[in-house]
Amino acid sequence: MTPDAHQRVVRVNLGHEGSAAAGDRSYDVVIGAGVLGEIGPRLKAATDRAITGAMLVIDTGVPRTFVERARGSIASVCPVIGEVAITPSEKGKSLATLDVILQTMTRARLERSGVVVCIGGGIVGDVGGFAAGVYRRGIGVVQCPTTLLSMVDASVGGKTGVNLSLGTRDTDLKKNMVGVFHQPRLVVADVHTLDSLDTRTFACGVAECLKHGLLGAQCGDPGLWSWTLSAISDGMLGEDAALIELVARNIAIKARVVECDEFEDKPPAAGDIGRLALNLGHTFGHALETIPGLSPDGNPSHAPLEHGEAVALGMVAAARCAHALGLCDAGLASEIIAGLRGVGLPTGGLGAALPPAERVLDAMMDDKKVLDGSLRLILPKRARAGDPVRVVTVDEPARNTVIGAIEMLR
Ligand code: GLY
Repeated sequence: MTPDAHQRVVRVNLGHEGSAAAGDRSYDVVIGAGVLGEIGPRLKAATDRAITGAMLVIDTGVPRTFVERARGSIASVCPVIGEVAITPSEKGKSLATLDVILQTMTRARLERSGVVVCIGGGIVGDVGGFAAGVYRRGIGVVQCPTTLLSMVDASVGGKTGVNLSLGTRDTDLKKNMVGVFHQPRLVVADVHTLDSLDTRTFACGVAECLKHGLLGAQCGDPGLWSWTLSAISDGMLGEDAALIELVARNIAIKARVVECDEFEDKPPAAGDIGRLALNLGHTFGHALETIPGLSPDGNPSHAPLEHGEAVALGMVAAARCAHALGLCDAGLASEIIAGLRGVGLPTGGLGAALPPAERVLDAMMDDKKVLDGSLRLILPKRARAGDPVRVVTVDEPARNTVIGAIEMLR
């Protein structure tokens, strides 16, 4: 368990003096090659009383060898009393799936001193984490993310929840409408699980890494942006050492943001970074994701867009808006485009499937950052120090800039 060149540990410090909620909620994120095989002793070390049982919530897409490696290690410290397998989908991220997990935990008589261990991508972590957050009013959860996206984003920060369906149409699915903040006790990110991802899924995680790179100057890692661009252009992201560095540095960015704003209730302020900054590219991206028939290369048979692909396009649009509004030079958009293209992410060319920009802007009005009917965008600044993003309210002049940036994705 001693950290070595093949593993890194990032501490997330939460619940210190002055925090909005009492109690120490700090935890370690262990990043390395093969670290799923250490989860049991790590869990024991992270818990101050005996763990009486573990319930596994696993993603059916995770190769069984990884699940067995984790299970064997957990079994060395406590009984594994059950397992729920989930096929990840936004429709299945539901109250019905939550109910299945809670019933399995209840039938297995999982006690308050038990834990839920989630092994999989963001959907499994969200629904399993939510089950842990509400079962017997809250028990421990360990997150074992197996996609790059869930490693660098969802597994850290304690957001859990499910979607709510108001009807049968796609637009009736209200994402993450029900949930709780429930910080994990431990996060174990084994980069060997990334070998099982297809290139498209892996690239989606790189989109979030590039976003974090833009926040690096404010979060103690000003070199992350150029390191990430070089790692992509030099083709280093297939190697364990580079992957461990990528994941650890990105988790450290996420950790610093969450430490500043655990409950996403911090108003944006100069010199301070809040969770809103993590929405860079996401307002455009979420709207693009809801448009049927959109594909990363304009070919309808490759539709729909993956979340990371939509965020990639959103980052390009956000950078173009930022340039038009004088927040950064044109070079920033070019660097973003080069980084995204380097891993095969889309940066435009959506073609005829992209509806008129006005309609995309209308879909953006569903965003959670809309305040008093006004859309607010997170736009990047070229900041080597100081605020890396600016929250811009989309008033009438800015509206034309946004429309122009959406049109350029066609
Ligand atoms: N994924 C955004 C956040 O954790 O706040």
